[in-house]
Order: sequence, then structure tokens, then C-alpha cells
Amino acid sequence: MQDPNLIVGFERSDDAGVYKLSEDLAIIQTVDFFTPIVDDPYWFGQIAAANALSDVYAMGGKPLTAMNLVCFPIKTMDIEILKNILRGGLDKLKEAETTLVGGHSIEDNEIKYGLSINGIIHPNNILTNSNAKVGDALVLTKPLGTGIINTAIKGGMANDKVIAKVSESMAALNKNASLAMQEVGVSACTDITGFGLIGHLCEMVRGNDFGMVIHAQKVPYFQEAREYAQQGLMPAGTFRNKEFFSKWVDPASTMPPFISDIFFDPQTSGGLLISVPREKADSLLIQLRGKNVPEAVIIGEVVAEPKEKIIVF
Ligand code: CO
Ligand code: CO
Ligand code: CO
Repeated sequence: MQDPNLIVGFERSDDAGVYKLSEDLAIIQTVDFFTPIVDDPYWFGQIAAANALSDVYAMGGKPLTAMNLVCFPIKTMDIEILKNILRGGLDKLKEAETTLVGGHSIEDNEIKYGLSINGIIHPNNILTNSNAKVGDALVLTKPLGTGIINTAIKGGMANDKVIAKVSESMAALNKNASLAMQEVGVSACTDITGFGLIGHLCEMVRGNDFGMVIHAQKVPYFQEAREYAQQGLMPAGTFRNKEFFSKWVDPASTMPPFISDIFFDPQTSGGLLISVPREKADSLLIQLRGKNVPEAVIIGEVVAEPKEKIIVF
């Protein structure tokens, strides 16, 4: 028997779990952790925290408290590295006005860091990933391609300028984007992470009475991601995403190979993907610009046909 107070569980792969505490209050819970994606420990800490907080922002909620999860080879690695990771995480939490209340660390051969976040929301204001409406515009708030660029970083192929640019993007909170959409009132939202753009679009259409059109030329991505993709650089997750989600892509779609690589690219701490009623799309974009989310653009719309499919032109 399912607990009636569990409003959002894991059956729809939504961003976070939501549990009703009273008629006007629900708690949002989420956890995320991973191995370093950039070499600089302070940036890694910031990115891990921004990524963990993002699921609360994607639900339209306000993060309140956080707990650290740490795996670290304490016997063989300099403790300063760990201190800098944790400092990065803490600085991001401060920016998010979220309180660190504790955590847990274990000894491990490989560094892993992330956080569990608790947030709050009014039960009527929850934004799931499945509630888009035909006619809605789809807005994306950060450029794609971080997975490809992280692969280049690991391979020692990215220069400092590229590393700085992509680190800054991944460490940017989705807080302001979330506040903007809460202000305007939108239909649905998710954040782009491991499934890539196409995978998260699939989660939005799956089991629903609509499909989505994506205008490939409108979708923002890092130019370097195109260059690296054309050199054959790709994270393993891209292949998994293509294998799993390709059946939801309408065969009438046209995607040059590098666009396909970027659209299936697993993102770390990607942007929000927002489904907004057409008549509110302009005010959402104005709000996003006013809140310093300049890269947000309309990338497509929700359509009646083809149902449960993504069509890319
Ligand atoms: Co998410
Ligand atoms: Co997550
Ligand atoms: Co959501």
C-alpha cells in the first residue's frame, strides 16, 4: 500500500521525491553524488552542490538544509583536497541560502562527493516533469555539451579557458531560473542531467497524450562541444542514452551526427527545461533576463502529434 502523503515518488523518474506534511506544506528530498569531473577541488565542490540543489529548484521548491556525502582516500591523499571540495560545496550552499546540517564520510580509493538536499514547497505548486500542455513553449536555461567537454578535460585536451567556461556554467545555481518560473507560473519542469536533452524530453512525454518539437538551430550549446564531438570525443553515457531513448525520437527528425551527440550528451548540473503556456513565454524570458539567466531561450513546443515522440528539425 502506498503512503497517501507521497505526492511524487520514483515511478516517473522525477527530479525529487515530494512528501506532504500538511495541507500547505510538503517536503522535497533529493540526493546526488559523483566522482570529480574537473581537476580543481574547489570547483568540483561547487559543481556537486549546484547539481544536488538543482533537483529542488526543478520542482519549484526552496532548498532549506543539506548533508554532505564524502568518499575520500584519506590515507593516500592530501587532506587539503578534501577541505577545498567541502569549501566549494559550502560556498554554493551559502549562495543558495541553504544550511549544512551534517553529513557522512567513508574511506574509499576514489573521491566521490555530493549532497542530500531537503526543500519545501506548497503542495499545490509542485512542478513535475509530466504536466506539460499542448501549445506550451519549451525553454532551456543553460547551453548543452558539458559531458563532451568533461570527457575532453579528462583526456587532457581542453585548455584552461574552456575548463573555466564550462565549470562556471555547471557551478551556476538554477535558483534564479526557478524563481523566474515560479513568478510567471509554468506547466512543468525538469533539469537536464544524466539522460541528456532527449532523455529528459522523453521523461516529459512518456505516457502522455502529446509530443514535442525541438528546433535544433535554437538549442544553445558550447561551440567546443561541437568541435570535440566532431573529433569523436564522447562520454560512455551518450551511447547508453542513444540506445535507450532513440525509440522516442520520431523517424522524420533530422539530426546531423554532432547535433545527435550533443542532444544525447549526459549533462552535469545542466539547465532547467521549462514547459510554459505560450502566452506566458515572453514574460518568462523577460523574468529570466532580469534575473541574470541570459542564455535561456525557447527551443521548441508541445504538440498534439506525434504522441509520446520527440521530433527534431
Ligand atoms: Co533532475
Ligand atoms: Co538528481
Ligand atoms: Co520537476
